[in-house]
Amino acid sequence: DDSRSEVSLHVNGTTHRFDVDNRRTLLDALREDAGLVGSKKGCDFGQCGACTVLVDGRRVVSCLTLAVAAEGAEVTTVEGLAADDELLPVQEAFVRLDGLQCGFCTPGQLCSAVAVLAEHAAGWPSAVTPDVSPDQPHRPLDADEVRERMSGNLCRCGAYPSIVRAVLEVAESEGVNG
Ligand code: FES
Ligand code: FES
Repeated sequence: DDSRSEVSLHVNGTTHRFDVDNRRTLLDALREDAGLVGSKKGCDFGQCGACTVLVDGRRVVSCLTLAVAAEGAEVTTVEGLAADDELLPVQEAFVRLDGLQCGFCTPGQLCSAVAVLAEHAAGWPSAVTPDVSPDQPHRPLDADEVRERMSGNLCRCGAYPSIVRAVLEVAESEGVNG
């Protein structure tokens, strides 16, 4: 049957094998086939960011990613962010600074935040002022930069100020801004 494929997904360090419809999204495979329901389905068409996961360290909206396209990649969902039940600093900061209210957007916000911190640490050009020359010193992560980079993650509760504060705090404490 050409419309189905065997797919191996490496998710949070565990390999799952599924026989999936070629059109199955990564989000549905994660939630319904792997039972990892932390990634949320807000809109199912790439508009809200609630389904954001990391694929080989880069964030993707899993509702617009085919499960077959993630074959062989390392997928990290919110369930896999904390190692050995120890929260990441950004997770701890979200809790302490009230970076969530209902929590629906939070798995996507957290995956995005982890990626933003890594993007910044890797010296990616600013999303706010992308035209500065590459010789310019690394622009510190500031609130505008965090808002721009996380603009794909909507929060209907309006927890944005606390989310931005949490990401900035971690950037400071981890020296990502140094
Ligand atoms: Fe994927 Fe909204 S559910 S972007
Ligand atoms: Fe409710 Fe963001 S905390 S949608």
